[in-house]
Amino acid sequence: MSSVTIKNVKKTYDNNKTVINNVNLEIKDKEFVVLVGASGCGKSTLLRMIAGLEDITSGEILIGDRVVNNVAPKDRDIAFVFQSYALYPHMTVRENIAFGLKMRKTPKAEIEEKVKQAAEILDLTEYLDRKPKQLSGGQRQRVALGRAIVRNPKVFLMDEPLSNLDAKLRVQMRSEIKKLHEKLQTTFIYVTHDQTEALTMGDRIVVLNNGDIQQVDTPDNIYNDPKNTFVAGFVGSPQMNFIEGKNLGLNENILYGVRPEKMIKPDGDIKLTVNVEISEMLGSEKIAYFNIGDKKCSAKLDSDFNIGKTLDLSICSDDLYKFDSATGERIY
Ligand SMILES: Nc1ncnc2c1ncn2[C@@H]1O[C@H](COP(=O)(O)OP(=O)(O)OP(=O)(O)O)[C@@H](O)[C@H]1O
Ligand SMILES: [Mg+2]
Repeated sequence: MSSVTIKNVKKTYDNNKTVINNVNLEIKDKEFVVLVGASGCGKSTLLRMIAGLEDITSGEILIGDRVVNNVAPKDRDIAFVFQSYALYPHMTVRENIAFGLKMRKTPKAEIEEKVKQAAEILDLTEYLDRKPKQLSGGQRQRVALGRAIVRNPKVFLMDEPLSNLDAKLRVQMRSEIKKLHEKLQTTFIYVTHDQTEALTMGDRIVVLNNGDIQQVDTPDNIYNDPKNTFVAGFVGSPQMNFIEGKNLGLNENILYGVRPEKMIKPDGDIKLTVNVEISEMLGSEKIAYFNIGDKKCSAKLDSDFNIGKTLDLSICSDDLYKFDSATGERIY
């Protein structure tokens, strides 16, 4: 069993600031769950509480059936991979991967076998005798993963493990971590502020804002069926447009949401003309930016348009999401 259960967990730091408010979350055995949210929303705090690196102010955390509130990090059967891989520079890759096992006085033959297996899984076999400085960023991050793998943890906790890598390598490592998850069949809890990472990697995504869970759902539902304006605005790039009802000739008490790719549809029943203020070229697509009322909006187009000129929008009412203007909650 390597489920993780978080029950009514709160965290208040010494300065009395509550950074996690009564969070409840059940992570299933073998699941890949991504915690996502803006900087400072409490992702690392939550992960560090699961790891035991941070006290829990109130509530309970269970790993499997065991309440771990008072269990030391080293006895929780978890492995933590940080943003900075923190490899020992004077040790070889082999020694770095073996280090934790050696400290636990694991028999030598067992260490060798485990390092060999981890190196094979991570494609590091030919680098085992190198020092970290002789490796690329992606290879170093794989060594950090290797250190975690050899411990056979019940749960992998990863805090922005790819954020030190360049964009191309990040994309590559994303799929490598997914493959690793499939091979190891272990529970993964992965923290990122990057919505694309969350959407592409998670079986389920937990969207956090100011220490509160906004929605826990599959990537598909987070994108297509957001529960409130926060989630709707957090995923998708450019973000969802929010337009006041009065500016669409619709219900004034409703805030309408529509994705930038749905702003110009041949069969649109809502017509609107806007002035394009900025444009952005994204390879095959172009983005036009404009205001509707006092809200900044955008449209994704595949045809040309000009800055300073008008643009005719055509929106299908079926593509509109409805939100309560006062609370931001979705209206179904
Ligand atoms: N040791 C601490 N003492 C007091 N406040 C802290 C401490 N650690 C974190 N905080 C505060 O708690 C809040 C949540 O921090 P946390 O590190 O969990 O955010 P995060 O979501 O991981 O952000 P980021 O994406 O920037 O890493 C922040 O407001 C932060 O300033
Ligand atoms: Mg963090």
